This record gives sequence, structure tokens and C-alpha cells, in this order.
Amino acid sequence: MTTAPLRVGIIGSGIGRSHAEGYATQSRVTIAAIAGLDERSKTLAGSYGARHYGEYAELLAQPDIDAVSVCVPNGLHAEVTLAALAAGKHVLVEKPLARTPAEGESMLAAAKAADKILMISFNHRQRSDVQYIKQIIESGRLGRIYYAKSYWMRRAGIPGINSWFVNKNMAGGGPLIDLGVHMLDIAMYLMGEPTPVAVNAATYAEFGPRGQKGMNSVRQTVEGKYEVEDLATAMIRLDGGATLQLETSWASHGPNGDDFGIILYGTEGGAELQVVDYHNVKTVRIFYDEANGTPVDLVPNIKPGGGHVDVINNFVAAILDGAPAIPSAEDGLRRTQVIDACYRSSAEGREIRL
Ligand SMILES: NC(=O)c1ccc[n+]([C@@H]2O[C@H](COP(=O)([O-])OP(=O)(O)OC[C@H]3O[C@@H](n4cnc5c(N)ncnc54)[C@H](O)[C@@H]3O)[C@@H](O)[C@H]2O)c1
Repeated sequence: MTTAPLRVGIIGSGIGRSHAEGYATQSRVTIAAIAGLDERSKTLAGSYGARHYGEYAELLAQPDIDAVSVCVPNGLHAEVTLAALAAGKHVLVEKPLARTPAEGESMLAAAKAADKILMISFNHRQRSDVQYIKQIIESGRLGRIYYAKSYWMRRAGIPGINSWFVNKNMAGGGPLIDLGVHMLDIAMYLMGEPTPVAVNAATYAEFGPRGQKGMNSVRQTVEGKYEVEDLATAMIRLDGGATLQLETSWASHGPNGDDFGIILYGTEGGAELQVVDYHNVKTVRIFYDEANGTPVDLVPNIKPGGGHVDVINNFVAAILDGAPAIPSAEDGLRRTQVIDACYRSSAEGREIRL
């Protein structure tokens, strides 16, 4: 087991900034180095008194680094993770685990062979409001959940019309693999990890190819055309008969700017999470009927919190204390398998059995 202080490196400085903020809350961690090809990476390294490297391989060659956060474009997750594990580092990889199940499987196998922690950053699952709903479900208050609708819909939120996000090879897909993976993760986590048995999905690209509905972005840019979907919808059949509807878009003529959430329908009650434009107050409602049949909507006052800080806390505890590495790479792989099946279902115009 690695001993404190844990010396970490962060590769990539977009969401990598949130990882730095998380590590900075940990008394047993030193941020030793940050790698990145952009000015942001140099600035971030400077603000934490860390060394800066350009290419990720330079950081991985440093023997004093015990663990790394992999915060690079999706297409590099497998490559950088495999190199990091080969260099003897523990790895926390950003979502999605990988572009394909084959890539994901190679990452899990490499972590096992190297006997290192591999964990995934599903930060939204760690939100305090999602954790609250999890507790309500585990208390039995909602009964058996037989249907859920999980979604992340944006009106004009393509993350940079010339960014790596719209390049199929670098991203693996559009909003489904980017935002949908979070909402699939939250749904499967809250529903108790039922096994997905079949998916029926459709994808659309109505605005991206016309150069419309992009966000102002400082993301890494790429040459070339818009190659991924800008809206996806999927019906996922789960073992035991429950179903999940998953909807996601970066661009649509929808009602809200940025709107994510989930509605869970149980035999004894329901629960809703809705986060509009990242507004974090009163995001949860619980629905049930009183004995006399009166419908009740409960609006708990949940303190906003969780997210990356909790993911990083779990990663550090897994390395230093042998605590469970949650959210697990196995969960990451299961989500990748469903998303891959959704893309195949859309391409082939039929249901895909898993
Ligand atoms: N969990 C979340 O809420 C969340 C939010 C945003 C992004 N992400 C994920 O984080 C990852 C990065 O997304 P982003 O928005 O930060 O992208 P970004 O374009 O803003 O940043 C990418 C970073 O990777 C660096 N990089 C690229 N190639 C490199 C190389 N060869 N060596 C070293 N550094 C390299 C770039 O210099 C840059 O700093 C993606 O997988 C994305 O899905 C997660």
C-alpha cells in the first residue's frame, strides 16, 4: 500500500482544475505536477506550486508521482491510463471510461495486472442531492422502482463547435457519451445496478453540422467537420423488467438552457432530481400518497455539495487506506457497454441485446 503523503499528478487542465481543487482539500496529498499542452496547464501548475510538463509521458516518467488524474480528451483515456499503470501509478480517469468496451476492458485488465487502483470520476453521482435520493431508496420508502427517466438536455450547448468533443475519434460520440454517461450512471446507481438486457436508441445531428448552437469554449480545438450526434434518446430494458428512458442533447429547441435530472417511479413513492442551469437549491422532490390518498410532494432542503471533492476523497482513501474505489472502473465499463450498444442500435435501426 502507498503511504502518505500521496504525490499526485494531473494530466489535462480543463476539468483537471476541479481535480486540483479536490486534491487541495486533502491533507495527505501533495500536487506534485500538472501536464498539459496549453497555457492553462502552466497557470494551474503555478497556482499550486507544482511542476509543469507538456506531454503526458513526461509526467509519467517522474518516479516521485504515485497517482494521476487522467483529464484528457476521451480518445486518449485508454492510451494515457495504460501508460500510467505501466509506469506504476494509480489512476483516476475522467468519464467516460473509454470510447469502446474493448478499450475499457484493456484498462481494467491492466490495472489488475499492475495491482493498482483504477477509479472513474462520476462526480455527479457523488452530489449530495443524488446521495440523498439513494438513502431514500435504500430506506424502502419508494418501494420497487420499475421505471425511470434520466436526461440531460441543453438548448445551445455544443462544447465548442471546433473542439475535440465533435470529433468522432477523439470523443467517441456526442452528448450521449459526454452527458448521457453521467445520467446513465446516476440511474443505474440509484436503481441498484440492474443488468441492462437490451437497448433501442436513436441519434440525431441537426445543429452541429450547420455550425449552430455551440458554446463559447476554451477546449482543445481540432480541424474538421462536425462528426457526432447532437441529440440521443434510448430505451434501456433492465433485468427484472424495469426500464430506463435516457435522453440527452447538446443542442435542441427545448425549453431550458441546461437541464439535467432523473425521475424515478416506485411502487410506494417517486423521486425527482432536477437541476436547471446548474441551480443547486431545492433540486429534489419526493412524491407519495398519504394513507387517506392525498398526494404529497416533499421538498427537502439539501445542502449542495459532493461531486469531484468526494470522488477524490474516495480515490485517496482507496490508495492510502484500502477503502473501496468508488465509483468503480467496473461501473465505468458497464456504462460504456450500454452506450456502445446505443450507438449500434441507432446505426442499425434496431434493438440491440446485451
Ligand atoms: N466530470 C465532469 O463533470 C467533466 C466535465 C468536463 C469534462 N470532463 C471530461 O474530462 C476530459 C477532458 O475534458 P475537458 O473539458 O477538460 O477538455 P479540455 O479540452 O478543456 O482539456 C483537455 C486537456 O488535456 C490536455 N492534453 C491533451 N492531450 C495531451 C497530451 N498528449 N499530454 C498532456 N496533456 C494533454 C490539454 O492540453 C488540455 O489541458 C474528457 O474526458 C471529458 O469527458 C468531465
